[in-house]
Amino acid sequence: PTVEEVQSVILQTLAASPEGAIPDSRVLAVGGASLSAPEGQAVVKAALDSLLSKEMIAYQQITANQYLPTEEGNQIIASGSAEYRLWSALPVKGAGEPVTIPELQKLLGADACKVGQARAFRNKWISKEGGNAFVRAKEAVEDETAEQLRTVSSTGTHAGGDAVLKELVKRKLVTARKLLHYTVQKGAKFATEVKTLETDLTVDMLANGAWKEAEFKQYNFAAMGEPTNGGALHPLLKVREEFRQIFFDMGFSEMPTNNFVESAFWNFDAMFVPQQHPAREMQDTFYVKDPVQAGKPDEEYFQRVSKTHEVGGYGSIGYRAPFSRIESEKLLLRTHTTAVSTQMLYNIANQPGGFKPAKLYSIDRVFRNEATDATHLAEFHQVEGVVADYDITLGHLIGFMKEFFAKTGNHKLRFKPAFNPYTEPSMEIFSWHEGLGKWIEIANSGVFRPEMLEPMGLPKGVRVLGWGMSLERPTMIKYKIQDIRTLVGHKTDLAGVKTAAAVRLEKGDE
Ligand code: PHE
Repeated sequence: PTVEEVQSVILQTLAASPEGAIPDSRVLAVGGASLSAPEGQAVVKAALDSLLSKEMIAYQQITANQYLPTEEGNQIIASGSAEYRLWSALPVKGAGEPVTIPELQKLLGADACKVGQARAFRNKWISKEGGNAFVRAKEAVEDETAEQLRTVSSTGTHAGGDAVLKELVKRKLVTARKLLHYTVQKGAKFATEVKTLETDLTVDMLANGAWKEAEFKQYNFAAMGEPTNGGALHPLLKVREEFRQIFFDMGFSEMPTNNFVESAFWNFDAMFVPQQHPAREMQDTFYVKDPVQAGKPDEEYFQRVSKTHEVGGYGSIGYRAPFSRIESEKLLLRTHTTAVSTQMLYNIANQPGGFKPAKLYSIDRVFRNEATDATHLAEFHQVEGVVADYDITLGHLIGFMKEFFAKTGNHKLRFKPAFNPYTEPSMEIFSWHEGLGKWIEIANSGVFRPEMLEPMGLPKGVRVLGWGMSLERPTMIKYKIQDIRTLVGHKTDLAGVKTAAAVRLEKGDE
């Protein structure tokens, strides 16, 4: 039955009742179908709640136990209790051979024999005869347990009340389940028809005066509000914030990395990456078609860079290969944020007042023309730090790495010689990952080459250290994400993003 049908039955029943009440909602029925079962009472409750909100009724909930025979209880209903079956198996005193315990055990089973004996004795139904055998002590008996169970089975309860029911529950012959029902009374606005109440006061109602007659629905202040649809920080942004705080703790300031498009000059040439380097091929780098040319750097600086590539200088023999201005003016999506660090170093070298030591960092997007798979996308974020000061060494770089990565929960580091065209020496940094049980590469680093720094005009004796790593990798480890394509892009689980907790890097990755 529908809630509306049940509402109508409730109102009719109340109207017909001399007391204006329904003492037990289990008597209700719709078109002959009883509502006494739990499912029926659930519909009754929905109907009552709706009527209550219109003040048409009042109601109270009553919790009652309904009792049901267990499997054992049903067996007793069918074939009698153990004591009754035991008594039935015996002869009346003097009318036959007394039955021995082994015989009874064979007849009833060991358990029923034991229980039956005890209860039959207590009821004084049987007596011992000649040692270990029994006879009936009563001509006729009433199997009270079976009777009680039959009553419970058909009515769900027993007039004997708690004492009887508790005993049956204790003997595991019946079980109780909670059943809700309701007592209902007429409310202040009782009527036999359900009126639809106004929920809004409209301009029309005000204009035509209908508001005077209209009946309004009560506010339901107890109702839960709609969940608000706010934004959420993506896991990458949460982890970025963690790295930011570490850089700030160490006295770094942020570089402006808001231009994704760079010239080949800043991305490669100024860093002393040879123009013949394979990373510069179209398969590895996204070039921009339009505009065709980048804006020009300072011409004197350009000349110094060009000359360093072609013939060397600053103690270097250069690449001894032709340097193309056209190649240098190509536009591309930056392949590393080091393109920005390079411009910052050039600016620092040429700022009014001259060079001053600097600690700079950036966390932003870079692009590589790569086949995508579970761990690679064509774009990712780099976390990069650069330190420029007089007479700093590889030892300082190692010290920086130890302090920086300790703040991210990486305490066991290994440094492995590596190669970058723009740093010498270069080191890959590995960290022992307790959870994965292996060394994982976490960063690339190095001391920038004089061929890169000296053409900028940085004073001799100034050394620049740098390191870079991806933001995606630690984020995936922290958030236990296996496939990068579920972290970034259309397969991202937005609900997951909303509910994901912030992570703390210093807590380690175990
Ligand atoms: N640019 C390097 C990379 O893309 C990172 C790096 C930065 C290395 C600074 C050395 C110095 O992996």
